[in-house]
Amino acid sequence: MTQLETYITENENRFLEDLKSWLRIPSISTLPEHAGDIRRAAEYAADQLRRMDFEQVQLIQTQNHPLVYGEWLKATGKPTVLVYGHYDVQPVDPVELWESPPFEPTVRGDNLYCRGACDDKGQTMLVFKAMESLRAVHGTLPVNVRVLIEGEEEAGGESIEHYVKTYPERLKCDAAFICDTHMLSKEIPALINGLRGIIYTEVEVRGAKSDLHSGSYGGVAPNPLHTLAIIIAGLKDADGHIHIPGLYDKVREASEQEKAFWHDDPLHLNEMLLEEMGVSQLTGEAEYPPLERIWARPTLEVHGISGGFVGDGAKTVIPAIAKAKISLRLPADLKSDEVFVLLERCVMALAPEGVEVTVRKVHGGEAVMVPVDTPPIQAAASALREVFGKEPVFIREGGSIPVAGLFHDILGVPIVMMGFGLPDDNLHAPNEKYSLSQFYKGIRTVARFFEHMGE
Ligand code: BES
Ligand code: MN
Ligand code: MN
Repeated sequence: MTQLETYITENENRFLEDLKSWLRIPSISTLPEHAGDIRRAAEYAADQLRRMDFEQVQLIQTQNHPLVYGEWLKATGKPTVLVYGHYDVQPVDPVELWESPPFEPTVRGDNLYCRGACDDKGQTMLVFKAMESLRAVHGTLPVNVRVLIEGEEEAGGESIEHYVKTYPERLKCDAAFICDTHMLSKEIPALINGLRGIIYTEVEVRGAKSDLHSGSYGGVAPNPLHTLAIIIAGLKDADGHIHIPGLYDKVREASEQEKAFWHDDPLHLNEMLLEEMGVSQLTGEAEYPPLERIWARPTLEVHGISGGFVGDGAKTVIPAIAKAKISLRLPADLKSDEVFVLLERCVMALAPEGVEVTVRKVHGGEAVMVPVDTPPIQAAASALREVFGKEPVFIREGGSIPVAGLFHDILGVPIVMMGFGLPDDNLHAPNEKYSLSQFYKGIRTVARFFEHMGE
């Protein structure tokens, strides 16, 4: 065993305890009542950086939640890596479906259960611990490092967008490293070469000036809930085709190599998808392979509809207002602002007369595609190969990490997207977990990645 491996092995328990303490802070970015927790979680990250002798460690105030910054720039002549992570987490409802309390980190078998265990405190903490281990063993880091951790990734990430666009010179680097993605399984390490973008909206329909008796007015009153149903059904049909004019115009052709991978599915990912979701059949555009549908096609989903009466029992009411949360995932070249305009126009055209319809943008983020033949990504591939003993695969991810596109466009550096999550980690869902063996292997892999970057 190398000194580095020995150090990591001897300190695994302490690393886990540090993660648990961070996880106990319920830093839910979208709920205003957790603003204090958000701050505490940011302070906790800053404290981790201070303990590693990082300099300029600070909470950067923003319009919303603070960013955490720190730097270690003493590796003269070596490249600089910008490390990104997020300390905020998703809400925990429905809380009754959690097998242990959502903010009490609990180990069962090889898994640590807690909101944020994987996304993204677990993955961010392992990067911290890789750096701590390198410092402890070598007294130095093999590369220069800037760390930027955000607190509103799960809520759209507007503040970091503003920061990166305003102060790109403060983030000068040779590569960005984002540890916020998945592998395919414990045996199949993966690097992500593409993410989809997103545009998240709320559609509101207003009818009468107040709720109405459905007997007295049914037949003459507009029903905003029914209007929403018509709009939603008009946006996407049963075969998964989206009927927003212009949407598909800019969808880029993928490489023959990617298309073959999607079509042939050599790793049997289609079966894994069925298994993960617990369904017997996949939905969507039948003329495209499932992997293409989740990684490279625009898709539209409804996340929630509110309005009228949803309690137990019956109430004969025609609601005055109804709302739906609707988002689209966007492959590279479809810009979120442009798609918002297309969506808004389409919703307006679908709405019948006599109701008032508004489409509000909640947040948006751009897709990203990265070439894989760059030295930083090859350094990451080598590290994965060494620690996992398998050749990593390059895949896309259907989810979005808006800062990736931002770093790519504004800083113009290679983006390494290497994470250690697993498909069954229940991100954003009850019983989120992180595999402990993935956490510890992740520490080793990231340490080796930094060493390769410094060679
Ligand atoms: N870490 C995820 C992205 C992700 C999802 C990576 C699944 C790998 C597998 C990230 O925190 C996330 O959830 N992003 C949001 C972005 C949105 C709120 C702007 C998403 O994709 O919904
Ligand atoms: Mn994340
Ligand atoms: Mn997330």
